[in-house]
Amino acid sequence: MSHSLLQGKRGIIFGALDQQSIAWKVAEKAHHEGARFVLTNAPVALRMGQIQELAERLNSTVIGADATVDADLESLFTQAVEFLGGPIDFVLHSIGMSPNVRKGKAYTDLNYEFYHKTLDVSAMSFHRTMRAAVATKALAQGASVLALSYIAAQRVFPDYNDMADAKALLESIARSFGYHLGKSHGVRVNTISQSPTRTTAGSGVKGFDDFLDYAERMSPLGNASAESCADYCVVMFSDLTRMVTMQNLFHDGGFSFTGVSQEVLQS
Ligand SMILES: NC(=O)c1ccc[n+]([C@@H]2O[C@H](COP(=O)([O-])OP(=O)(O)OC[C@H]3O[C@@H](n4cnc5c(N)ncnc54)[C@H](O)[C@@H]3O)[C@@H](O)[C@H]2O)c1
Repeated sequence: MSHSLLQGKRGIIFGALDQQSIAWKVAEKAHHEGARFVLTNAPVALRMGQIQELAERLNSTVIGADATVDADLESLFTQAVEFLGGPIDFVLHSIGMSPNVRKGKAYTDLNYEFYHKTLDVSAMSFHRTMRAAVATKALAQGASVLALSYIAAQRVFPDYNDMADAKALLESIARSFGYHLGKSHGVRVNTISQSPTRTTAGSGVKGFDDFLDYAERMSPLGNASAESCADYCVVMFSDLTRMVTMQNLFHDGGFSFTGVSQEVLQS
């Protein structure tokens, strides 16, 4: 059942690659709640993924942008405002990639070129996105900007590797930009810290299946699915959360505040 929570709202959704992507589910739910939006991804992902089909089904369009390239982002915001016929009410940053993880480099022996890339793609791109939004005057007063994070920003999960550092930076950028955008445009900026979820990015982490199982047993409500994460994103884009900003919001079935569980002790 639709609650029309996003009726009349215009958005940009980064990061829908395939049906497993969290951004894919957010696009479906946002459409269901009445939003109109532009889908965007890196040019290479547009060639590989099925995003075009998603756009057709949801009455959207796809505009390619590499989130590490400022000119791409400015062009994206300009074109999105034109396509949607007005300023942007919500933005989802759902982007993550670590060449060190992909190539199996240990955290204690990182390739520093790769490390730069991890931080640029997975964290600085969030800063670049908001900078481009301001430069193109694309954001509506009171808009909601969200990025997706993971608890490795606060606690050590060894195989999460340099993505942990990227998430710590991402959350810090949300706080800092949230302050400035709050003052200048009444815009809120938050991160949602999601349970491990089986997606292309998630499954790249070493030992992912064991880890997913451990998190499931540690969380009183179990792991949060991509669908429920999308529900939370929709609420965060809606007017019901207009005073929430500069927060890292755990969406993890209680994992973050559980010390130990019976299920883990007994295994
Ligand atoms: N899957 C999990 O376990 C999990 C848990 C917590 C947080 N997250 C975060 O959720 C977000 C979405 O990831 P996902 O799990 O849906 O995986 P995904 O692989 O479906 O999405 C990652 C997206 O990043 C895009 N991307 C990579 N480089 C880019 C660039 N230069 N410019 C633009 N886009 C680029 C990819 O094309 C892809 O669409 C990421 O920030 C991820 O870290 C995932």
